[in-house]
Amino acid sequence: MASEQTQQAGEDGGVATAQETLSITDNRTGETYEMEITEGTVRAMDFRGIKVNEDDFGLMTYDPAFKNTASTRSKIGYIDGEAGILEYRGYSIEQLCEHSNYLETAYLIVNGELPSKDEYAQWEHEITHHTYVHENVKKLMEGFRYDAHPMGMLQSTVGALSTFYPGANNITDEHEQHMAAVRLIAKMPTLAAFAYRHNLGLPYSYPDNDLSYPENFLSMLFKMAEWKYEPDPRLARALDVLFILHADHEQNASTAAVRNVGSTQVDPYSAIAAGVSALYGPLHGGANEQVLRMLDRIGTTDNIPDFLEGVKNREERLMGFGHRVYKNYDPRARIIKHHVDEVLEVTGKSPKLEIAVELEKRALDDEFFTERKLYPNVDYYSGLIYEALGMPTDMFTVIFAIPRTSGWVGQWLELVKDDEQAIARPRQIYDGYREREYVGIDER
Ligand code: ACO
Repeated sequence: MASEQTQQAGEDGGVATAQETLSITDNRTGETYEMEITEGTVRAMDFRGIKVNEDDFGLMTYDPAFKNTASTRSKIGYIDGEAGILEYRGYSIEQLCEHSNYLETAYLIVNGELPSKDEYAQWEHEITHHTYVHENVKKLMEGFRYDAHPMGMLQSTVGALSTFYPGANNITDEHEQHMAAVRLIAKMPTLAAFAYRHNLGLPYSYPDNDLSYPENFLSMLFKMAEWKYEPDPRLARALDVLFILHADHEQNASTAAVRNVGSTQVDPYSAIAAGVSALYGPLHGGANEQVLRMLDRIGTTDNIPDFLEGVKNREERLMGFGHRVYKNYDPRARIIKHHVDEVLEVTGKSPKLEIAVELEKRALDDEFFTERKLYPNVDYYSGLIYEALGMPTDMFTVIFAIPRTSGWVGQWLELVKDDEQAIARPRQIYDGYREREYVGIDER
């Protein structure tokens, strides 16, 4: 209930009739303000109306790392961490992994609806026929040092694509938007595979238009002298499922980076290069790499009890366990777990994989982990699958970037069509000196 002194804190002053409101008393002035609550949020700009006097700038909210700030409305990814739910455009990842494939899921994410038969055929044709890159892109990649990190190569090359498609600068043109979406989704596996082969000193392998999206990626990675590479369908399916599971995860660090950079109205290739950069960081896309490094350190199954003691004594972290959002289980991990065995049937077990299986079993039997609700997350299993496929750990994040491209593109499209968005420009609390007198270098 608003007091006599209640003021409209909102700049538009239009909240008086709202039932869902928040009353705030500013104890500096004794004034009470009422703010509208919509969908569990209050508008940060409404705080600006809370002032000690007319000259006051107004209150700001302070939220380092955006831990409690919604920066956009979105219709793409929905997460319920407690219930272990992840949906794209309202479809659960369980249903998509069972009935769909990555290309169809990418269409859904980018365009908002599942495609009709004709729409899917057209989409598949377009993606398949845009997998080739300009020969100068290949030359650009050849210029990297022999041991360049493939993620660094990917990041620079995605940015460089903007120079090959200058029409994409016209970010409001629907045809250009569509072409950028198609090109990015189509070319990302080509760039990823070229980066892989560059590291090995192998000739780059060109796309094969007869193969499906995941099959073609496997072919570009592993094809040698054979006339045609024929991937095992179990490997292609496991990769496709991993692609579906990594397609979007709402406003994570790399998506936020794409939106932030995209808000400047730069072209989509530059915006998505920012997403690749953010994903490169070990706190984001690098966790599955850490799982494999941990297994390397453990060395043999005999060392598992000692390792787990180290975890309990807080000398170590069990990488690939626990999640900030999913506290009961990671729905992506539950789905991909089933494919690990299938992949191992094809590739055979390695000692590292045996350690992983035993480590998981023992951790899930241990109260330390069950009490804290620590279960394997998607990275525990994705790392195992990439390892079984023979991928070097440096490539793990690159493979993550391939499917996340559809999420980045979908979110970028949402951004450029959203009238409420403007150039992203956070505020700060200035904590430094003021009005100092300059001191000449000889007197310092
Ligand atoms: N190994 C050992 N203990 C752990 C782990 C772990 N992996 N994760 C959490 N804990 C413990 C914490 O020490 C804490 O114990 P305490 O209450 O006795 O102090 C308790 O479990 C709760 O953990 P929090 O740190 O509060 O969990 P938070 O949500 O902050 O962290 C995180 C989540 C960062 C993912 C964490 O579980 C972790 O570091 N896991 C390993 C890294 C990893 O696998 N990351 C990938 C996540 S999936 C993805 O990003 C795609």
